[in-house]
Amino acid sequence: MQWTGWQVQCTTGNTGSDADNTAAFSAEVIVVFVDPATLKGENRLLHPALDDALRDLSRRGAFGAKPGETTVLPTMGLLPAKYALFTGYEAAPWTTKSFRIAAGGIGRALARLNVSSLQWRMPPGLAGMASEHGVRVAAAAAAEGLLLGMYTRNTSASEGRAVPKLAVRFEFDAEDFSEEWVEGFLVGIQTADAVCYARELTNLPGNRLTPAVFAEEAQSLAVQVGLECRIYDEKEAAVAGMGGLLAVGMGSANAPRMIVLRYRGRPESDDWTGLIGKGVTFDAGGINLKNGMGLEEFISDMGGAAAVFGAMRGMAERKLRVNVVAVVPAAENMPSGSAFKPGDVIKTFSGQTVEVLNTDAEGRIVLADGLTTAIREGARRLVDVATLTGAVMHALGDVTTGAITNDEPLLQQILQASQRSSEYVWPLPAHPEYKRMLRSDVADLKNHGGAWGGAIAGGLFIGAFAEELPWVHLDIGGTAWMWADRDLEPKGATGVMVRTLLEWLERESATVE
Ligand code: BES
Ligand code: MN
Ligand code: ZN
Repeated sequence: MQWTGWQVQCTTGNTGSDADNTAAFSAEVIVVFVDPATLKGENRLLHPALDDALRDLSRRGAFGAKPGETTVLPTMGLLPAKYALFTGYEAAPWTTKSFRIAAGGIGRALARLNVSSLQWRMPPGLAGMASEHGVRVAAAAAAEGLLLGMYTRNTSASEGRAVPKLAVRFEFDAEDFSEEWVEGFLVGIQTADAVCYARELTNLPGNRLTPAVFAEEAQSLAVQVGLECRIYDEKEAAVAGMGGLLAVGMGSANAPRMIVLRYRGRPESDDWTGLIGKGVTFDAGGINLKNGMGLEEFISDMGGAAAVFGAMRGMAERKLRVNVVAVVPAAENMPSGSAFKPGDVIKTFSGQTVEVLNTDAEGRIVLADGLTTAIREGARRLVDVATLTGAVMHALGDVTTGAITNDEPLLQQILQASQRSSEYVWPLPAHPEYKRMLRSDVADLKNHGGAWGGAIAGGLFIGAFAEELPWVHLDIGGTAWMWADRDLEPKGATGVMVRTLLEWLERESATVE
């Protein structure tokens, strides 16, 4: 998607009810925010006849002005715009999150109407309401909601993504407008583009996104947005000693890859942040074969890698002043005569040995080599994103991403970023007692900690490869994939954590001198 094709304008002043001030800009749709209290009242929303129609729908229970709820009325020549789009939102308490969801409703309605120009009348008093995280975050939320709401799954991402190019004119009350709206909105479009990119990668079926194809995608992303790219194929990985990646990948006819992407936004600094994404392009479980239903979901087992790719795209497009090395261990976890087996002891890239108790706990093994790769590439702090466990879903459901850390300040930065992005992240405990679950009699670690605390055991296994660097692990096992549409998240891949990673790095970028 290209945001460069967008036209964004703003006007202030009379955003009252009549049509005459809209003549200069002809939009197909006029968007008006309505909160439940105003809907129940009598004051003018847009036009007397349309207001009557809307309030009639409301009395019938067909429109309640809930955030994300929309109603479209044809204007029948009453206004220059062909359609009036009423969208519910919460004025009190106003939150960035519900504003984003309201914008998502607009996006979904626009996608149905198939229009490309809109006149977007902002709710009065917005500047005051948007003070929660500031105007830029609110404006970005509007753009993110709009685009994420418009997104629909496309199973042929490689054939080119859908490119919505909209002409938008925002109308503000004079006291609500600031230049930051336009800046924030354009940033939000870039963020949403990065999220949609992550979704499309994750939605790609396993046969269309093998580790080798994933590596080619990394190369083309690098060319598109200006990154350095280094790929280790299975032979180079073997020479380097990436025993974890190879063990997981060797059961598949599609050989594994270690993908390294580098974004240098602060050439004067040699401080590097490592982002490591689990890139299991399909997880059948290996010899510990998963059973039965819903296996198709496991095309999403590279959702962490996709989030990292999305973040790389976003930070490069936004030219953030950060240095980031992204590492994606990409492998397919399959059962076969050449697959690794329970009981195997493997030597990881770090030199630590791992006793394999369950081949379905493969993510932590490839990520071990991913962390070591990032460290050898110069990373001084590490954030990994992974569909690591089903257990995190038992703990937090499909709503919240689980976090584990060895460094409280780094975790706090990520948690604060997640509040601005309205993606839920919640810390799991990491007391030393939990590490005992991973003790092995025959190797440095075993890859399965037992029946309980699975998300913690999995996370702490990865942490054992952080070499004491500040590290945060984000388990998106419950949040990377939806079985049904939810607010801004369509069925399928969510692109979760792209927004939080970009928020975090944006703040880092803003605070360097
Ligand atoms: N990719 C899965 C985790 C997962 C499961 C993500 C369901 C999303 C939905 C991971 O590789 C896995 O299989 N984990 C096992 C670990 C267990 C064998 C220790 C799990 O969670 O069941
Ligand atoms: Mn697995
Ligand atoms: Zn997996």
